[in-house]
Amino acid sequence: MERILTAQTSQKKGEMVKVCGWVEARRDHGKLIFIDLKDRSGVLQCVFTPGDAELHKLGDTLRSSWVVEINGQIASRPVGMVNAEIPTGEVELQVSELKILNESQTPPFALDTNGLEIGEDLRMKYRYLDLRRNRLQKNIRTRHQIIQFIRNWLAEKDFVEIETPILTKSTPEGARDYVVPSRLQHGKFYALPQAPQQYKQLLMVAGFEKYFQIARCFRDEDTRGDRQPEFTQLDLEMSFVKREDVMALNERLLIDLTEKIFPQKKIQEIPFPRISYQEVMEKYGTDRPDLRTDKNDPNLLAFGWVIDFPFFEKTRGSSSSNSESSDPSPSSGSSTWTFTHNPFSRPRDEHMDWLMNKEKIGEILTTQYDVVLNGFEIGGGSIRNHQAKPLKKVFEIMGFDEKRITDNFGHMLAALASGAPPHGGIAWGLDRLISILMGEPNIREVFSFPKTGDGRDLMMNAPSEISKEQLDELGLEVKYANNEFTRILRKKNS
Ligand code: AMO
Repeated sequence: MERILTAQTSQKKGEMVKVCGWVEARRDHGKLIFIDLKDRSGVLQCVFTPGDAELHKLGDTLRSSWVVEINGQIASRPVGMVNAEIPTGEVELQVSELKILNESQTPPFALDTNGLEIGEDLRMKYRYLDLRRNRLQKNIRTRHQIIQFIRNWLAEKDFVEIETPILTKSTPEGARDYVVPSRLQHGKFYALPQAPQQYKQLLMVAGFEKYFQIARCFRDEDTRGDRQPEFTQLDLEMSFVKREDVMALNERLLIDLTEKIFPQKKIQEIPFPRISYQEVMEKYGTDRPDLRTDKNDPNLLAFGWVIDFPFFEKTRGSSSSNSESSDPSPSSGSSTWTFTHNPFSRPRDEHMDWLMNKEKIGEILTTQYDVVLNGFEIGGGSIRNHQAKPLKKVFEIMGFDEKRITDNFGHMLAALASGAPPHGGIAWGLDRLISILMGEPNIREVFSFPKTGDGRDLMMNAPSEISKEQLDELGLEVKYANNEFTRILRKKNS
């Protein structure tokens, strides 16, 4: 017999069926043993009657999380036993055959709750069990739906999904890089991408015109509720566009996505309001304002655009930053200026001359647009400098000398000098967007396997030491272990 899903059983009254899944709960009523059988579609009540003594005895051995295959007849539940709470609540399966596919240790915590009452360390250590709970199943499955929707929507509009390298060279997105030592070239390192920024621009030079990627990004910064060391962006870039085009496309996608997958949600204002950086700081004191008029309504989504950011700001120490990252900006040589968002951005047209003349630096506005939702920055992008000269000026303003510009960005300057079309794009923080849409307070709840606050994977026990042989092969030696260096630094500073 073919296996069917528990959700299909309510249509099968009187029929013999086979179902497979996990024992979620067991209720022993003496003669009758009830189990709730859970599969990916839901739960089904299965009943062992005392008629077949051997089968009844086997049913009695079942425990939570055991994996079983069950054959039996679907019957209407007796009057008064109907459970209106679940889709299969009118029926039950009368077991005629039980196969135990695997036993299970007793789970370290309850799986039939939302899990928020359990210490997070324990949940992370046994994430494969934690993920069984309904709330997380729903989060991860909805995440899949959202990504699938985005993929189809963009593909229909002629976007090409292109993968870009993970082993690469540092991109200055304002955070610290994760680095990977090279075995073949000792003393050299790859950096994991903070974002595919340079690659997507190079794909515009290559003539793809419309690119997107569900891209994994890596930033070695302090983790918090809306931040993970590795996270996922919807990254996209388009050629021959103006700021308006990119903003309009993304606004449409956000609206369509919400209406299709979250019809119960209400978008507060369409078109999304646009607020300048100056206004938003004056009015809200933050560049990711919570624009909701009713903060008690869990279904209200207040999207908004923040535009007209300053291109440059004084480096850390001389002023505070409004960029996404908490960690030190890339060293800016002798200059006191650094970029607020993205060195590759183009200034607003009317400020191009200031950039080229390196004057009024603090007043230059960028084409940057950030999209905010309910008090979180869920995305940001800009129109880029598609010519080499203005990009070079940006690096000069940041105090980079000729050698550093060539070493770090020679390939970008060469590419821009090779027929680069005007282009611009954006990246959404997908995890953030999904967690807000799912009503989760923390982005970890929409990751399959997130890291803890201090960047560890408690299940795999990562990061971990590597063997002496591995170190030798990489030409490395561990100078400080167990945060010894941090302690030395602290001592020095105190
Ligand atoms: P940016 O650095 O603003 O832009 O990143 C885009 C969006 O990614 C999300 N985000 C994060 N989400 C979870 N954990 C993190 N550590 C984290 N850091 C950022 C935010 C943010 O808005 N290359 C540019 C985009 C472009 O210009 O096209 C970039 O990466 O929601």
